[in-house]
Amino acid sequence: MKKAKVVNKKIEKKPVAPVKVVVAPKNVKPTPEVLRGMRDILPNEWNYFEFLIKKLENLAHVYGFNRIELPIMEPLSLYVRGTGKFTDVVQKEMFKFGDEESGEIAMRPEGTPGVARAYIGHGMLNLPQPVKLYYVGSFFRRERPQAGRHREFHQFGLEIFGSDHPVSDAELIALAHRFFKGIGVPVTFQVNSIGTPASREKFIKELIEYYKPKRKLLCENCKERLTKNPLRLLDCKEPGCLTIKTDAPQIVDFIDEESKAHFMRVLEYLDELEVPYQLNSHLVRGLDYYTKTVFEIWPEEGENTAQSSLGGGGRYDLLVESLGGRPTKAVGFALGLERIINKMKELQIRVPSRNGEIFLAQLGEAARKVALKMMPQLEETGFKIHVNFSKDGLRDQLEQANKLGAKIVLILGQQEIQDGTVIIRDMDSGMQESVDIKKLAAALIKRLPKVE
Ligand code: HAM
Repeated sequence: MKKAKVVNKKIEKKPVAPVKVVVAPKNVKPTPEVLRGMRDILPNEWNYFEFLIKKLENLAHVYGFNRIELPIMEPLSLYVRGTGKFTDVVQKEMFKFGDEESGEIAMRPEGTPGVARAYIGHGMLNLPQPVKLYYVGSFFRRERPQAGRHREFHQFGLEIFGSDHPVSDAELIALAHRFFKGIGVPVTFQVNSIGTPASREKFIKELIEYYKPKRKLLCENCKERLTKNPLRLLDCKEPGCLTIKTDAPQIVDFIDEESKAHFMRVLEYLDELEVPYQLNSHLVRGLDYYTKTVFEIWPEEGENTAQSSLGGGGRYDLLVESLGGRPTKAVGFALGLERIINKMKELQIRVPSRNGEIFLAQLGEAARKVALKMMPQLEETGFKIHVNFSKDGLRDQLEQANKLGAKIVLILGQQEIQDGTVIIRDMDSGMQESVDIKKLAAALIKRLPKVE
């Protein structure tokens, strides 16, 4: 059995060997490719997701939200009734298919109707109100893939059921404000009120009157919207339509007094909380269930396009009722994690990497067994420990640790096993120190900050 030598020498980085191209034999079929608009998230990128989800979960807990986990597939009718029959999401973007047993199924394009369905179905109306729920996961929309627009993407959403108080709207915006401040991404909150469906009717008539004579100048989508869903005309980000929108009537001039008063109180809370916002009288959102407050989170820097919104939400006081539940006022929003990560990368905001923190080198069979037994003790540190149990030589293992960028290498040789110790080697300085195996976790936490 080999003994660990104490060497105070840095490992030199070796030049990288040229990559050998391996040609597959002729009769082997090509590897299936990932579907269009879908993608793999590799470990380096997952670091960002993990970082954001942890931050958001911490915030959600502080604000009293509980996690809910819902199916990825739902009956198509949930979105037709919930999201809205004439929305782009339902008309053009759903991944849907038929199943003999379950009928028409859709891959969830958004989370809100599913959470509302669960609120009704599990009798959450009988719980103390408001019921505050959050979710995180994949959503699916068959959109034209481009930067910031994927067919599978991740949302972190928060919903409050059973509160019509304007403070709930403000609370959600304040939470989002805390989050973006915390990660260092400057954003603006675009806010508006779209009133009740009844008060919107007159506005929609005016809107049609305004757009009709300009029909020829509209994009193809908007020509269709003019007849099917006129409110969405204000949602279009095509340059031509954006110009026409400038002089379009403003919804705020049409909404009912109650909605106006509600909105004023939301703004008062935001002022009180010093959350900066911009009144955006043309903001209508792309989903049908909204009433009163609507908002979107736009990055402060860069162009504002259909793909740039980092999150959005609003009040949906009639959704629960429209899905067959007892009337329940609600408000919520969702963040698009891919878009936030893109922005962070653009702004060169790094997240702590969990890779390559510690490498555990073991020299021989006895050390391998001790190393395996040691793992539970290391759990409490939360560090990621790399081990290569198929190697025995110190040099090989140090080289691998170096390639992985390990900050610390733990070395277990025969002498260490006899003494009940482990050598801690600092890879930057090359300094080594022997510590009692029972005190290893504490010694590591002293050298690297503990990972929660
Ligand atoms: P949404 O505005 O459709 O709202 O989506 C929220 C966020 O998800 C967007 O702001 C964007 O960041 C991200 N997102 C949407 N589509 C894509 C895509 N194809 N690729 C990448 N990211 C995307 C909703 O989904 C509502 N359910 C939000 C809500 C919750 N309203 C009330 N409660």
